Amino acid sequence: MRLDRFLGETGAASRSEATKLIRASKVSVNGEVIRDPSRHIDPETAQVTLAGVPLLWRKFIYVMLNKPQGYVSATEDRGPTVMELLDPAFVRMGLFPCGRLDIDTTGFLLVTNDGALGHELLSPKHHVDKTYRYRCDPPIGEEQRMRLEAGVDIGGLITRPAEVVCTDGGAGGEITIREGKFHQIKRMFEAVGSKITELERIRFGGLTLDESLARGEWRYLTPEEEEILRRSAGRK
Ligand code: URA
Repeated sequence: MRLDRFLGETGAASRSEATKLIRASKVSVNGEVIRDPSRHIDPETAQVTLAGVPLLWRKFIYVMLNKPQGYVSATEDRGPTVMELLDPAFVRMGLFPCGRLDIDTTGFLLVTNDGALGHELLSPKHHVDKTYRYRCDPPIGEEQRMRLEAGVDIGGLITRPAEVVCTDGGAGGEITIREGKFHQIKRMFEAVGSKITELERIRFGGLTLDESLARGEWRYLTPEEEEILRRSAGRK
């Protein structure tokens, strides 16, 4: 990998800043100052420093964000996007939200630059479980709960089997779905004569939202969590 690209992928600098820094003798590879931005290095083994500070390169980054309301799940939009809550370097490192939560939905959003894994997690082939905590109005009864579980018509499409656990006399609960159609849960509740008033994703791909993360906070996944995600996506 070219040295200027390496710097870009660590998030240390944009590609053009990287060129300037390398030419200004700020970058060392294995203890030797390199002034050629096109120099090829092995990103897995090279010890690269910028102004004496070691740079950490990782092929893929996986981030758990506790999404607040008011942010769009996209890398670019007219309004604020979830990327604004993260490290500013992540956009140039190619990270993107894996799937979409509505602007008013909160909770677990995976942000990564692993396009292949992201695609597999969203693929209908793998039926990755997504669990949401909800509030609805009016409350639903047992007959509506069973219809939601069996599958409802959300406008020309019958939803696949889901699990619904009701609390608070039917005014709240948890719902697990395995698809991700546009506004799916809101449309499912409308189909049984209710309306979602609050929606928070608490589980995705075998991982549970870290309750110690306040809304708007994020952290890297642990290696164990990365492994669980890979398995959820059908990888060995
Ligand atoms: N279903 C919805 O209706 N909205 C979301 O954000 C996620 C699932």
